[in-house]
Amino acid sequence: MPPLPREGRSTAWIRDRLDALAGGDVDWRSGRALSLAYSAGPEVLALTDEVLARFQSTNALNVAAFPSLRVMQAEIVEMSGELLHLPEDGGGFVTSGGTESILCAVKAARGLARARGNTSPEMVLPTSAHAAFEKAAADYDVRSVRVPVRADFRADPEAMRAALNDRTALVVASAPAYPQGVVDPIAEIAAAAAARGLPMHVDACMGGVTLPMLERLGHAVPPFDFRVAGVTSMSVDLHKYGYTAKGTSVILYRSRELRRHQTFVTDNWLGGLYGSAAILGTRSGGPIAAAWAVMQHLGIDGYLRLTEAARRATEELVAGLRALPEIRLLAEPDTTLVAFACDGMGSDSAIDAFAVGDALWRRGWVCDQQKPPPSLHCTVNAIHAGKIDALLAALRDSLDEVRSTKSEGPGRSYAIVEG
Ligand SMILES: Cc1ncc(COP(=O)(O)O)c(C=O)c1O
Repeated sequence: MPPLPREGRSTAWIRDRLDALAGGDVDWRSGRALSLAYSAGPEVLALTDEVLARFQSTNALNVAAFPSLRVMQAEIVEMSGELLHLPEDGGGFVTSGGTESILCAVKAARGLARARGNTSPEMVLPTSAHAAFEKAAADYDVRSVRVPVRADFRADPEAMRAALNDRTALVVASAPAYPQGVVDPIAEIAAAAAARGLPMHVDACMGGVTLPMLERLGHAVPPFDFRVAGVTSMSVDLHKYGYTAKGTSVILYRSRELRRHQTFVTDNWLGGLYGSAAILGTRSGGPIAAAWAVMQHLGIDGYLRLTEAARRATEELVAGLRALPEIRLLAEPDTTLVAFACDGMGSDSAIDAFAVGDALWRRGWVCDQQKPPPSLHCTVNAIHAGKIDALLAALRDSLDEVRSTKSEGPGRSYAIVEG
């Protein structure tokens, strides 16, 4: 089939073809995806679809033409900032996702380092920090200095402190880190960064909504946000546990001085002054407006309800996993991320986690396959309430199927390059 048809297809043909294509996708709407997709249920999805459609052709490249997007972005930053105790004189931007927010944080830190005369910038981060930091390191020519995590998978503040030097431009920790779902000792790491006058970024892409809600629900949440004096920037993804449309995250800065190093302005072309807050140029207003709408619709009460449901499902999953002798939880989940290996002490021989992941996949359940160590990862969210028994049944079946077999391949990846 040629890539662009000579004659346009009918809308009926397109709908049929889309149905056929989507038939192979994981059924995230009914909670079969324990990765990549989040859902607060049909009502929030319907609102998202309506607002996305209404604003998808608006363009946040120039909010003078679309003042609606100026207001909505400012309010999204304000709502997110309030959750994370951003000081009055702090600020931030709406971005397209966690990776863009992280790119922005690293770019800003590099800019500050340059302004201070540091021309060989390094970033000190635990081995658990998200792969997007590697991308930022490569894109902005900042050397990535990975520091091994402790046995409990949390960052090691002492080892990180020891890795700081005159070239350090940024210190990073996560709340929580994606792979094992644990919150790093933010206060200790921030103190080490502050002692040297260095910026520290807390990647709360996963936990930036969940942790404030867990705290309100009475869970013990360690200090992780701007209430910790040395934290200078944070990323929070609304398209994860904010349950908004894909394409929305927020980057927040404690000070406008640091934020200034993120933005870009030029008039060195024939088109006049061009200003850009983050990485993208044209940005659809659809995800921005949908995020604003969902946040307004859910409010604190809605997020408390969704967080409680996700946390209860997480606890059910953890209890079910503990009952399976082959399964070994990698860490006690601090939020709603669960990682487990299949080499528990109760079994005669270890089972290949990736083979179990493949067997789950064949049963329509998608978990991430990650390493090291080889393990499966579940991003539990509100849509999984009432689905954990079915997931555990599928896991038991999968374990029966692959018991003592070996996986043929290296496992599936959490993110892949298409093509
Ligand atoms: C902790 C953390 N940071 C950053 C990211 C990157 O976010 P995105 O995939 O939206 O770019 C993720 C994604 O799962 C994450 O878990």
